[in-house]
Amino acid sequence: MDKYNYAIIGAGPGGYISAIRAAQLGLKTVLIEKDDRLGGTCLNVGCIPSKALLESSEWFTAAKHKFNDHGIIIHGVELDLRAMMARKEWIVKTLTDGIAVLMKKNKVTVVNGMGRLTAPGLIAVEHNGQSIEIEADAIILATGSIPIELPFMPFDGKYIVNSTDALSFDFVPEHLIVVGAGAIGLELGSVWNRLGAKVSIVEMLPQVAPFADKQMAIMLQRSLKSQGMDFYLKSKVTGSEVKNGKVILTYEDAKGEAHTLEGNKILVAVGRKPNSANVGLKEAGVMIEKSGIIPVDSKYRTNVKGIYAIGDLIQGPMLAHKAEEEGIAVAEIVEGKGGYVNYDIIPNVIYTSPELAVTGISEEEAKRRNIKYKTGKFYFRGNGRALSLGETDGLVKVLTDAETGKLLGVHILGPRASDLIAEAVLALEVEATAEDIGRMVHAHPTLSEAIKEAALGADGRQIHS
Ligand code: NAI
Repeated sequence: MDKYNYAIIGAGPGGYISAIRAAQLGLKTVLIEKDDRLGGTCLNVGCIPSKALLESSEWFTAAKHKFNDHGIIIHGVELDLRAMMARKEWIVKTLTDGIAVLMKKNKVTVVNGMGRLTAPGLIAVEHNGQSIEIEADAIILATGSIPIELPFMPFDGKYIVNSTDALSFDFVPEHLIVVGAGAIGLELGSVWNRLGAKVSIVEMLPQVAPFADKQMAIMLQRSLKSQGMDFYLKSKVTGSEVKNGKVILTYEDAKGEAHTLEGNKILVAVGRKPNSANVGLKEAGVMIEKSGIIPVDSKYRTNVKGIYAIGDLIQGPMLAHKAEEEGIAVAEIVEGKGGYVNYDIIPNVIYTSPELAVTGISEEEAKRRNIKYKTGKFYFRGNGRALSLGETDGLVKVLTDAETGKLLGVHILGPRASDLIAEAVLALEVEATAEDIGRMVHAHPTLSEAIKEAALGADGRQIHS
């Protein structure tokens, strides 16, 4: 039997990054992964391939509709979906191969196979009918999450599809119906809408992007609508039926009235659930909540000594970067150091056009918590760089504590919001005030000036408005 200090089940962003940190700290480390490729959902069928398609589809739209604005005339723009998918595959392969190199470089042993706890401290790994046993002082569960299936309309891979299927359609559906207006629904809906599909989004709640500040969500929905996407909010899906090569979705509106939508495919994107079945939790005595979440303490310890859990398996947003930080923190904790994740400011991004990026609290949350706050807003239409990019949709909204001026939340809807939010995260991490941001020199002309202007707004001294 092979013996290690640190064994991780699952090589997604939580698991593989934890492996590197553990190895850096001198722990003899093994990473167990059932799939041939490392990287988990994020790299193989999540964050990365979706970003590849979002980028490609945005270029396609630009070539068709936006190049003219720049005086560039192109005739006969055509879609080569196969080439677009091949590019996506190449990006995924490049990154996942890179992780394998990183494992070698850091002397992490990679074991390919399905890992299962058999007892505290013991893992059985099965691969091609063979089984090996691994013993470890610390075991980190990082098996991620899987798409939630609606019980009355199970995935069939053809008409009722999940996010993995929707990353690899071999044709552009005439009408794609999307259930759920969260990150997956809006991102993949955008991809297929840009590539020519009619896209209808059916959402149970009264707003898209449920985690977002209401004003930002309304503006995002407006932008997506102007791009051709249809929204059915406060609408509860009740069933579906395949008929004559089409699929018919039934839903109830806010008044309880029944409606139907007919399309070629239905993408169900109603959230994900922890992938905690089949990991041998029962055998090892690890407790689990009804939802599938594994309860852990602030040091990621489960109820069983020596077994830890991170990422989508535990509470908190199901985000790759949250899992990554937990992966680092747990390795440091196991090694007796003070690993720590600041959960209050984890950024949340939706990579639509415009992008939505958020850190800290929303206006609604501030009201709920009875916090006296001020807001500062700056619209990208007043930003020189946004104008030259031709991307003026959206705004930056800053929330500050009314008494101390400290930043409470930053909400960015606009071009490259995903990159811009890093300044806001840093500001919240160091407990900066709006005045700090307002006095910081921002390069001109840049999109980041919109953050400065919003901060100046909260400080009552905006310049460009
Ligand atoms: P989500 O939880 O973000 O959104 C699901 C949406 O479906 C919610 O708005 C919910 O109200 C709605 N819904 C649930 N049941 C419904 C029903 N029966 N009928 C109509 N609407 C219904 O989940 P999503 O988009 O599937 O993403 C899963 C996870 O992956 C999330 O935690 C998300 O944060 C993460 N993710 C993050 C990305 C990013 O960071 N850019 C990209 C993709 C996914």
